[in-house]
Amino acid sequence: MTDKESKHILVTGGAGFIGTNLCRRLLKQGHTVTCVDNFQTAQAPFRTAFRESARFRVVRHDVTMPLEATADEIYHLACPASPVHYQRDPLHTLKTCLHGSINMLELAGRANAKLFQASTSEIYGDPEVHPQPEHYRGSVNPIGLRACYDEGKRCAESLCFDYHRQQGVRIKIGRIFNTYGPYMQPDDGRVIPNLICQALRNRPLTIHGDGLQTRSFCYVDDLVEALLRLMETPDEFTGPVNLGNPSEVTMLELAEHIVELTGSQSKIVFRPLPSDDPRRRCPDIDLARSRLGWQPSVPLREGLQRTIEYFEDVLMLGEQTVSKTVPAF
Ligand SMILES: NC(=O)c1ccc[n+]([C@@H]2O[C@H](COP(=O)([O-])OP(=O)(O)OC[C@H]3O[C@@H](n4cnc5c(N)ncnc54)[C@H](O)[C@@H]3O)[C@@H](O)[C@H]2O)c1
Repeated sequence: MTDKESKHILVTGGAGFIGTNLCRRLLKQGHTVTCVDNFQTAQAPFRTAFRESARFRVVRHDVTMPLEATADEIYHLACPASPVHYQRDPLHTLKTCLHGSINMLELAGRANAKLFQASTSEIYGDPEVHPQPEHYRGSVNPIGLRACYDEGKRCAESLCFDYHRQQGVRIKIGRIFNTYGPYMQPDDGRVIPNLICQALRNRPLTIHGDGLQTRSFCYVDDLVEALLRLMETPDEFTGPVNLGNPSEVTMLELAEHIVELTGSQSKIVFRPLPSDDPRRRCPDIDLARSRLGWQPSVPLREGLQRTIEYFEDVLMLGEQTVSKTVPAF
C-alpha cells in the first residue's frame, strides 16, 4: 500500500469484540489506526491481539465527551452490545448512543471524515415481519429494559441522517445482526460465548425459554468484510443496510451443534425468557448483496469450530497462549 492509499482510521469501541477484529484487519491492510475506547467492557482478549506497531494507537476516552482528532474514516462502534453490559448502567448506555454519536458526528464534520455507524437488528425490536428488510420500521418497546439500547440506537440513526441532511456529514449505517467469533469475552452474556464456555467447562448449557426462538449468526470475518465494503461505497449510499447471515437457527439447534463440536458431556437446561426477547430474528440482505456485492461465506459449524478453538485457548491455556495461536500485530 502506498502512502497515498494508506488512511488514518479511527475506530471507537476498537477494543471490543468487533472493534478488535476490525482494527486487526485495517492494520493488516496497511492503514494507521487509532482505537478510541473507555475500556468499559473491553478486557483481556484485546491485550493479546496487538503487537506494538507505529501504525496503531490506543486512546482511552469516553465518547460521551467531545474528542479532537484527525481521521479519514471513523468506524463508530463504541457501545456495550451484550444485554448484561448495556443494562448494567442504562443511562450511560443511552448517553453513549446519543452523546457519543453526536460527538463522533461533530468530529466527522470537522475532520471531513466518513462515519460508519454501528446500528443493530435490535432497532426492529420483536419483529412482526420475517425476514426483516431495511424499510420495516420495527416493533420496539420504548420503556422496557432493552430500550436504553434499542431506542438509543434508533435515535443514533436519526442523528446520523440529520447531520447528513443538515451539515453534509458523509454517513454509512450498518444494521448489524448477531455476530460471533474470536475476541468475544468468555462471560459477556451473549449466547454463543455463554454456550461454548459452558460446554468446554462441562457445565449445563443454559437455554432461555423453550429454545425454539431463532437467531441468525454471522461470523465476524464476514461482518468485517461487509463493514469495509460499505465504507467504500459512493458517498450518496448512506444505508441503512442490514449486515448479517440470513440462515436461521433455533437456540436448541445451536446448543446441540456446540455440544457435538466440543465433545462435551453437558446437558441442556431451560431458564425463563428475559423480557422483550424477540422470537425470531433474520435479516433480509438483498440490499447488501446488490450494493456491496456481499453475503456471508462462513457456514455456522465452521465459524463455531474456529470460535471454540479460540475459547479453548482462552479457557484452558490462559491468555498468554492466545497471542501465540491467534497471530498478533
Ligand atoms: N456483536 C454483535 O452481534 C452486534 C450486533 C449488533 C450491533 N452491534 C454493534 O456493534 C458495536 C460493537 O459491538 P461489539 O460486539 O464489539 O461490542 P463490545 O461490547 O464487545 O465492544 C464495545 C466496545 O465499546 C467500548 N465502549 C462502550 N461504551 C463506550 C463509551 N461510552 N466510550 C468509549 N468506548 C465505549 C467498550 O469498552 C468496548 O470495548 C456496538 O455498537 C454494537 O451495538 C454488535
